[in-house]
Amino acid sequence: MYENILFEKKDGVAYLTLNRPDQLNALNGAVLKELDDALAAIDGDAEIRVLVVRGAGEKALAAGADITEMQSMEAEAGMAFGAFGQKVFAKIEALRQPSIAMIPGFALGGGCELALACDIRIASEKARFGQPEVGLGITAGFGGTQRLPRLVGRGAASLLLFSGNMIDAAEALRIGLVDKIVPHDALAAEVSALAEGIARQARCAVQQTKRCIRHGLESGLESGLSYEAQAFGLCFSTKEQKDRMRAFVNRRR
Ligand code: COA
Repeated sequence: MYENILFEKKDGVAYLTLNRPDQLNALNGAVLKELDDALAAIDGDAEIRVLVVRGAGEKALAAGADITEMQSMEAEAGMAFGAFGQKVFAKIEALRQPSIAMIPGFALGGGCELALACDIRIASEKARFGQPEVGLGITAGFGGTQRLPRLVGRGAASLLLFSGNMIDAAEALRIGLVDKIVPHDALAAEVSALAEGIARQARCAVQQTKRCIRHGLESGLESGLSYEAQAFGLCFSTKEQKDRMRAFVNRRR
Protein backbone atom coordinates (compact mmCIF):
# COMPACT_ATOMS: atom_id res chain seq x y z
CA MET A 1 0.00 0.00 0.00
CA TYR A 2 2.90 2.37 0.80
CA GLU A 3 6.15 2.61 -1.19
CA ASN A 4 8.24 4.95 0.92
CA ILE A 5 7.14 4.14 4.45
CA LEU A 6 6.31 1.01 6.42
CA PHE A 7 3.29 0.82 8.70
CA GLU A 8 2.89 -1.92 11.31
CA LYS A 9 0.69 -2.41 14.36
CA LYS A 10 1.65 -4.54 17.36
CA ASP A 11 0.41 -4.65 20.95
CA GLY A 12 -1.43 -1.33 20.66
CA VAL A 13 1.57 0.41 19.09
CA ALA A 14 1.75 1.70 15.52
CA TYR A 15 5.20 1.87 13.97
CA LEU A 16 5.68 4.32 11.11
CA THR A 17 9.05 3.77 9.46
CA LEU A 18 10.56 6.09 6.88
CA ASN A 19 11.85 3.60 4.36
CA ARG A 20 14.51 5.18 2.17
CA PRO A 21 17.62 3.97 3.98
CA ASP A 22 19.90 4.50 0.96
CA GLN A 23 19.06 8.22 1.08
CA LEU A 24 19.22 8.27 4.90
CA ASN A 25 15.40 8.47 4.86
CA ALA A 26 15.41 11.94 3.30
CA LEU A 27 11.92 13.40 3.27
CA ASN A 28 10.57 13.97 -0.23
CA GLY A 29 7.04 14.81 -1.35
CA ALA A 30 6.09 11.16 -1.77
CA VAL A 31 7.18 10.28 1.79
CA LEU A 32 5.24 13.24 3.21
CA LYS A 33 2.11 12.26 1.26
CA GLU A 34 2.26 8.70 2.57
CA LEU A 35 2.86 9.92 6.12
CA ASP A 36 -0.16 12.19 5.77
CA ASP A 37 -2.37 9.27 4.71
CA ALA A 38 -1.05 6.94 7.41
CA LEU A 39 -1.53 9.55 10.14
CA ALA A 40 -5.18 10.00 9.21
CA ALA A 41 -5.67 6.24 9.55
CA ILE A 42 -3.82 6.12 12.89
CA ASP A 43 -5.84 8.94 14.44
CA GLY A 44 -9.09 7.09 13.73
CA ASP A 45 -7.88 3.65 14.84
CA ALA A 46 -9.03 2.86 18.38
CA GLU A 47 -6.67 -0.14 18.58
CA ILE A 48 -3.66 2.16 18.31
CA ARG A 49 -2.64 3.62 21.66
CA VAL A 50 0.82 4.96 20.80
CA LEU A 51 2.74 5.91 17.66
CA VAL A 52 6.46 5.25 17.18
CA VAL A 53 8.14 7.18 14.35
CA ARG A 54 11.42 5.71 13.17
CA GLY A 55 13.71 5.35 10.16
CA ALA A 56 14.84 2.25 8.31
CA GLY A 57 18.49 1.33 8.78
CA GLU A 58 20.88 2.11 11.59
CA LYS A 59 22.16 5.48 10.39
CA ALA A 60 19.28 7.94 10.55
CA LEU A 61 15.80 8.84 11.59
CA ALA A 62 16.08 11.20 8.61
CA ALA A 63 18.89 13.35 7.21
CA GLY A 64 16.47 16.10 6.28
CA ALA A 65 14.20 17.14 3.48
CA ASP A 66 15.29 15.72 0.13
CA ILE A 67 17.88 18.14 -1.23
CA THR A 68 17.82 16.55 -4.70
CA GLU A 69 14.10 17.23 -4.93
CA MET A 70 14.35 20.77 -3.51
CA GLN A 71 17.30 21.82 -5.65
CA SER A 72 15.24 23.01 -8.64
CA MET A 73 12.29 24.48 -6.73
CA GLU A 74 11.25 28.10 -7.18
CA ALA A 75 9.58 30.17 -4.46
CA GLU A 76 6.04 28.97 -5.09
CA ALA A 77 6.99 25.28 -5.05
CA GLY A 78 9.19 25.85 -1.99
CA MET A 79 6.33 27.47 -0.13
CA ALA A 80 3.96 24.63 -1.01
CA PHE A 81 6.54 22.00 0.02
CA GLY A 82 7.16 23.74 3.35
CA ALA A 83 3.45 24.20 4.02
CA PHE A 84 2.77 20.54 3.31
CA GLY A 85 5.63 19.39 5.54
CA GLN A 86 4.31 21.66 8.29
CA LYS A 87 0.80 20.27 7.85
CA VAL A 88 1.99 16.66 8.13
CA PHE A 89 4.11 17.32 11.21
CA ALA A 90 1.27 19.31 12.82
CA LYS A 91 -0.87 16.23 12.29
CA ILE A 92 1.58 14.17 14.35
CA GLU A 93 1.50 16.79 17.08
CA ALA A 94 -2.31 16.90 17.06
CA LEU A 95 -2.73 13.15 16.90
CA ARG A 96 -5.03 11.73 19.57
CA GLN A 97 -2.35 9.21 20.52
CA PRO A 98 1.03 10.12 22.00
CA SER A 99 4.03 9.74 19.73
CA ILE A 100 7.65 8.72 20.30
CA ALA A 101 10.50 9.55 17.92
CA MET A 102 13.20 6.87 17.82
CA ILE A 103 16.55 8.33 16.77
CA PRO A 104 19.37 5.87 15.99
CA GLY A 105 21.67 8.31 14.18
CA PHE A 106 21.16 11.48 12.15
CA ALA A 107 18.14 13.67 12.84
CA LEU A 108 18.97 16.64 10.66
CA GLY A 109 16.82 19.40 9.20
CA GLY A 110 13.40 17.93 8.53
CA GLY A 111 14.47 14.81 10.46
CA CYS A 112 15.06 16.90 13.56
CA GLU A 113 11.77 18.72 12.93
CA LEU A 114 9.99 15.38 12.64
CA ALA A 115 11.35 14.41 16.06
CA LEU A 116 10.27 17.81 17.44
CA ALA A 117 6.68 17.17 16.36
CA CYS A 118 6.57 13.99 18.47
CA ASP A 119 5.72 14.07 22.16
CA ILE A 120 8.83 12.16 23.31
CA ARG A 121 12.30 11.70 21.77
CA ILE A 122 14.47 8.68 22.60
CA ALA A 123 17.94 8.57 21.05
CA SER A 124 20.86 6.20 20.67
CA GLU A 125 24.17 7.39 22.07
CA LYS A 126 25.26 7.61 18.41
CA ALA A 127 22.53 10.12 17.47
CA ARG A 128 23.41 13.45 15.88
CA PHE A 129 21.12 16.47 15.66
CA GLY A 130 21.20 19.66 13.66
CA GLN A 131 19.38 22.19 11.54
CA PRO A 132 21.84 22.63 8.64
CA GLU A 133 19.39 24.42 6.33
CA VAL A 134 21.13 27.81 6.45
CA GLY A 135 24.17 26.18 4.85
CA LEU A 136 21.96 25.27 1.90
CA GLY A 137 20.50 28.75 1.56
CA ILE A 138 17.14 28.13 3.22
CA THR A 139 15.49 28.42 6.62
CA ALA A 140 14.19 25.41 8.51
CA GLY A 141 10.77 24.91 6.95
CA PHE A 142 8.88 22.09 8.65
CA GLY A 143 8.36 23.86 11.98
CA GLY A 144 11.94 24.05 13.27
CA THR A 145 12.06 27.80 13.84
CA GLN A 146 8.93 27.48 16.00
CA ARG A 147 9.11 24.13 17.82
CA LEU A 148 12.84 24.14 18.58
CA PRO A 149 12.84 27.41 20.61
CA ARG A 150 9.69 26.31 22.39
CA LEU A 151 11.40 23.08 23.42
CA VAL A 152 14.98 24.14 24.20
CA GLY A 153 14.70 27.93 24.57
CA ARG A 154 15.67 30.80 22.30
CA GLY A 155 19.43 30.69 22.82
CA ALA A 156 20.01 26.98 22.29
CA ALA A 157 17.63 26.95 19.32
CA SER A 158 19.27 30.00 17.74
CA LEU A 159 22.66 28.39 18.15
CA LEU A 160 21.56 25.34 16.16
CA LEU A 161 19.46 27.22 13.59
CA PHE A 162 22.02 29.99 12.84
CA SER A 163 25.20 27.90 12.90
CA GLY A 164 23.96 24.75 11.16
CA ASN A 165 26.26 22.86 13.56
CA MET A 166 25.58 19.28 14.55
CA ILE A 167 25.40 18.23 18.20
CA ASP A 168 25.78 14.78 19.71
CA ALA A 169 23.29 12.89 21.84
CA ALA A 170 24.78 14.03 25.16
CA GLU A 171 24.51 17.69 24.18
CA ALA A 172 20.97 17.12 22.87
CA LEU A 173 20.05 15.62 26.24
CA ARG A 174 21.68 18.52 28.08
CA ILE A 175 19.63 21.14 26.22
CA GLY A 176 16.40 19.12 26.43
CA LEU A 177 16.18 18.24 22.76
CA VAL A 178 15.97 14.54 23.65
CA ASP A 179 14.39 12.98 26.69
CA LYS A 180 16.52 9.87 27.06
CA ILE A 181 19.69 8.36 25.59
CA VAL A 182 20.11 4.59 25.49
CA PRO A 183 22.87 2.26 24.23
CA HIS A 184 22.63 1.94 20.45
CA ASP A 185 21.86 -1.79 20.45
CA ALA A 186 19.12 -1.37 23.07
CA LEU A 187 17.29 1.46 21.29
CA ALA A 188 14.55 -0.51 19.50
CA ALA A 189 13.78 -2.64 22.57
CA GLU A 190 13.72 0.39 24.90
CA VAL A 191 11.38 2.32 22.61
CA SER A 192 9.03 -0.65 22.19
CA ALA A 193 8.98 -1.26 25.95
CA LEU A 194 8.15 2.39 26.61
CA ALA A 195 5.46 2.44 23.91
CA GLU A 196 3.90 -0.80 25.14
CA GLY A 197 3.96 0.52 28.70
CA ILE A 198 2.06 3.63 27.64
CA ALA A 199 -0.31 1.46 25.59
CA ARG A 200 -1.25 -0.45 28.76
CA GLN A 201 -2.36 2.72 30.55
CA ALA A 202 -5.97 3.87 30.39
CA ARG A 203 -6.61 5.11 26.87
CA CYS A 204 -8.83 8.07 27.67
CA ALA A 205 -6.53 9.22 30.47
CA VAL A 206 -3.43 9.14 28.25
CA GLN A 207 -5.15 10.92 25.38
CA GLN A 208 -6.64 13.56 27.64
CA THR A 209 -3.23 14.10 29.25
CA LYS A 210 -1.74 14.78 25.82
CA ARG A 211 -4.52 17.26 25.07
CA CYS A 212 -4.01 19.02 28.40
CA ILE A 213 -0.26 19.39 27.85
CA ARG A 214 -0.73 20.80 24.34
CA HIS A 215 -3.59 23.09 25.29
CA GLY A 216 -1.82 24.47 28.35
CA LEU A 217 1.45 25.13 26.55
CA GLU A 218 -0.36 27.10 23.85
CA SER A 219 -2.88 28.97 25.99
CA GLY A 220 -1.20 29.59 29.36
CA LEU A 221 -1.47 28.23 32.89
CA GLU A 222 -4.91 29.46 33.89
CA SER A 223 -6.63 28.18 30.78
CA GLY A 224 -4.57 24.99 30.96
CA LEU A 225 -5.63 24.29 34.53
CA SER A 226 -9.27 24.81 33.66
CA TYR A 227 -8.83 22.42 30.71
CA GLU A 228 -7.18 19.89 33.01
CA ALA A 229 -10.06 20.09 35.51
CA GLN A 230 -12.49 19.20 32.74
CA ALA A 231 -10.31 16.38 31.43
CA PHE A 232 -9.92 14.99 34.96
CA GLY A 233 -13.69 15.01 35.41
CA LEU A 234 -14.29 13.46 32.01
CA CYS A 235 -12.17 10.44 32.93
CA PHE A 236 -14.67 9.57 35.67
CA SER A 237 -17.23 8.85 32.96
CA THR A 238 -15.10 6.01 31.56
CA LYS A 239 -15.33 2.30 32.25
CA GLU A 240 -11.55 2.16 32.46
CA GLN A 241 -11.57 4.46 35.50
CA LYS A 242 -14.28 2.40 37.21
CA ASP A 243 -12.58 -0.93 36.45
CA ARG A 244 -9.08 0.18 37.35
CA MET A 245 -9.98 1.87 40.63
CA ARG A 246 -12.24 -1.03 41.67
CA ALA A 247 -9.44 -3.49 40.91
CA PHE A 248 -6.99 -1.44 43.00
CA VAL A 249 -9.34 -1.22 45.99
CA ASN A 250 -10.32 -4.91 45.80
CA ARG A 251 -6.67 -5.98 45.70
CA ARG A 252 -6.12 -4.19 48.99
CA ARG A 253 -9.05 -5.81 50.81
N1 COA B 1 18.54 14.76 0.72
C1 COA B 1 18.81 13.92 -0.28
N2 COA B 1 19.70 12.93 -0.21
C2 COA B 1 20.36 12.80 0.96
C3 COA B 1 20.15 13.63 2.04
C4 COA B 1 19.18 14.65 1.90
N3 COA B 1 18.87 15.48 2.91
N4 COA B 1 20.95 13.25 3.06
C5 COA B 1 21.66 12.20 2.60
N5 COA B 1 21.31 11.92 1.34
C6 COA B 1 21.82 10.84 0.48
C7 COA B 1 23.22 11.17 -0.03
O1 COA B 1 23.14 12.01 -1.16
C8 COA B 1 23.74 9.80 -0.33
O2 COA B 1 23.19 9.37 -1.56
P1 COA B 1 24.11 8.65 -2.68
O3 COA B 1 24.59 7.40 -2.00
O4 COA B 1 23.18 8.43 -3.81
O5 COA B 1 25.22 9.61 -2.96
C9 COA B 1 23.13 8.93 0.75
O6 COA B 1 22.01 9.68 1.24
C10 COA B 1 24.06 8.67 1.90
O7 COA B 1 24.55 9.91 2.37
P2 COA B 1 26.12 10.24 2.49
O8 COA B 1 26.27 11.72 2.44
O9 COA B 1 26.91 9.44 1.54
O10 COA B 1 26.38 9.69 3.97
P3 COA B 1 27.50 10.18 5.00
O11 COA B 1 27.44 9.22 6.13
O12 COA B 1 28.79 10.43 4.30
O13 COA B 1 26.97 11.63 5.52
C11 COA B 1 25.32 13.19 6.31
C12 COA B 1 25.80 11.73 6.24
C13 COA B 1 23.99 13.19 7.03
C14 COA B 1 26.32 14.03 7.10
C15 COA B 1 25.19 13.76 4.89
O14 COA B 1 24.44 12.85 4.11
C16 COA B 1 24.49 15.10 4.83
O15 COA B 1 25.10 16.12 5.15
N6 COA B 1 23.20 15.11 4.41
C17 COA B 1 22.45 16.31 4.25
C18 COA B 1 22.01 16.84 5.60
C19 COA B 1 21.23 18.14 5.42
O16 COA B 1 21.76 19.16 5.06
N7 COA B 1 19.93 18.09 5.75
C20 COA B 1 19.05 19.22 5.70
C21 COA B 1 18.32 19.25 4.42
S1 COA B 1 17.29 20.71 4.35
